Amino acid sequence: MADDKAARLDEIIASHGDREGPLLPILHDIQEEFGCIEEEAKRQIAAALNLSRAEVHGVVSFYHDFKAQKADKPVLKLCRAESCKSRGVEALVAHAQATAGDRVEIETVYCLGLCSVGPNAMVGKKLYAYLDDAKLASIIKEMV
Ligand code: FES
Repeated sequence: MADDKAARLDEIIASHGDREGPLLPILHDIQEEFGCIEEEAKRQIAAALNLSRAEVHGVVSFYHDFKAQKADKPVLKLCRAESCKSRGVEALVAHAQATAGDRVEIETVYCLGLCSVGPNAMVGKKLYAYLDDAKLASIIKEMV
């Protein structure tokens, strides 16, 4: 791992140093910044938090938001849980996939916590609500 990357990981870890249970916030920040949680990052986190690498790996592998490898294309998370289903998300899927083609990955997720304003999607940390075909296509086109 490059020294600058290791240094940046140290900064992220230190930024959560005063929290109780800092592991998940640290992992979210690393995933957001680097697009994945690499083995060296797990070792560095484990050493900093006085955990075993296996403990860190267990948390990383439990939550599918954390990726072992960086995605080769941008990812749009589309909620297909019950509330968004009842608000019409399934009717949007085919058009969204056709618009995305092989340029954007449409990842199914189950609830983004905005059930009353669905259908919903998320790109990075940004949430989108009240989706329809046109709005979803516009978001996808902005991503490429
Ligand atoms: S069911 Fe889609 S945000 Fe909760």
